[in-house]
Amino acid sequence: MVQIVPSILSADFARLAEEIQRVEQAGATMLHLDIMDGHFVPNMTIGPPVVECIRKVTRMTLDVHLMISDPDRYISVFIDAGADQISVHQEACLHLDRTLRFIRNRGLPAGVVLNPATPVAMLDDVLELADYVLVMSVNPGFGGQQFIPNALRKIRALDERRRRLGLAFRIQIDGGVNEDNLADIVRAGCDWIVMGASIFGSPDPARTVARMREIARDAASVRV
Ligand code: DX5
Ligand code: ZN
Repeated sequence: MVQIVPSILSADFARLAEEIQRVEQAGATMLHLDIMDGHFVPNMTIGPPVVECIRKVTRMTLDVHLMISDPDRYISVFIDAGADQISVHQEACLHLDRTLRFIRNRGLPAGVVLNPATPVAMLDDVLELADYVLVMSVNPGFGGQQFIPNALRKIRALDERRRRLGLAFRIQIDGGVNEDNLADIVRAGCDWIVMGASIFGSPDPARTVARMREIARDAASVRV
């Protein structure tokens, strides 16, 4: 099933619990948490203590997107803080095969992320170890950027691979998704759609989530 996944990056961090509960009540079942270290990406966000606090105020699946250098050092810490699934960047992992196996061995779905400049082919030897592949449709680091259209081609390429290879990994997109490009993204084969600014920058985030879920459902119903 196609899911709209709110990203708290554009939420009001002083009222985080309230913001999270609004989108949960609107039907979102997965919440995207962006972890940035000021090194792998030129921005900083939250760390394990905040994830631990978020864990206490929601039942949504906590989808932790690690935009940090040397993610192996911190995976266990984020699992202990309450992450339900973790994605790591292909570009940040020297031993990606080992990292994905490690996340799975800890009992969590493992995700791998591709920056806009990284081709899908870089994952050919690890696709069987991934529970989901996240296609970045902006250069990671900031919310509210413009969608980079080559992401659509990458989603199609991943969808083609999973059919051909009989794999079941989910395809996720992150960055610049809005009401206008959402249907095309779903039709390309995407399952989990991260949206930050479009939801938390809108006057009524709960209504926006409901509306985006509708658009996604309609687009999915005409997917082959
Ligand atoms: C960007 C983050 C995204 C961000 C997307 O580096 O990984 O999750 O929240 O935000 P929008 O939807 O505003 O582009
Ligand atoms: Zn993200």
